[in-house]
Amino acid sequence: MENNQLTPMPRIGDKAPEFKAVTTQGPINFPADYSGSWVILFSHPADFTPVCTSEFMTFASMEKRFEEAGCKLVGLSVDGLYSHIAWLRTIKEKIEYKGMKNVEVNFPLIEDITMEVARKYGMLQPGESSTKAVRAVFFIDPKGIIRAVIYYPLSMGRNFEELYRALIAMKTADAFSIATPADWQPGDDVIVPTAGSCGVAKQRMESKEEMHCYDWFFCTKKLEKDKVMKAVLKK
Ligand code: BEZ
Repeated sequence: MENNQLTPMPRIGDKAPEFKAVTTQGPINFPADYSGSWVILFSHPADFTPVCTSEFMTFASMEKRFEEAGCKLVGLSVDGLYSHIAWLRTIKEKIEYKGMKNVEVNFPLIEDITMEVARKYGMLQPGESSTKAVRAVFFIDPKGIIRAVIYYPLSMGRNFEELYRALIAMKTADAFSIATPADWQPGDDVIVPTAGSCGVAKQRMESKEEMHCYDWFFCTKKLEKDKVMKAVLKK
């Protein structure tokens, strides 16, 4: 691939690049059609391949959980629409994997034969493959801002529980103005932002809110799982 075919990769904090596309669920106008909701835009290298099949079955089986957390899913590969349709039909009709069967993929899968969208989103990484999209994951918030980006190589299936955890962690950080420590799960203690001024430090010392400080810059507090889930799940 020529270098001039590559555009800069969108970064955290950028507006999600816009595009119109044909999908297995009809045309979409992205990200406008998803305004007001979180959306995960993810790419996979090719239809009718084993790692991608295991991923689609897993993600489709979890779609309701993402929906309940206010997040829609949109897939993409540089294959064509009829290949997508045939592959999704095969998955539903023939594949039984890890207890999952009859799996219907109800979220849109974008056809991107021209690679226009894959280029816009930096999904083509020539060091890995010049003809297939890598396994990219873009978390886009209700205002159309990219909030997290994760890339995986072709050989590695994604951990969808981790994608769910990342979504819940970002929504929790937004809802409670906190940060989440390593390996955080809902119900674990959360990190209180470090005091940025003497005033805040004093307020914090005088606050009745229960905190545990490992040092002045590293304080945590309890945040119950039911509070988290109430805030992040749709009513
Ligand atoms: C797979 O999904 O199995 C796959 C796709 C492209 C390259 C390697 C593996």
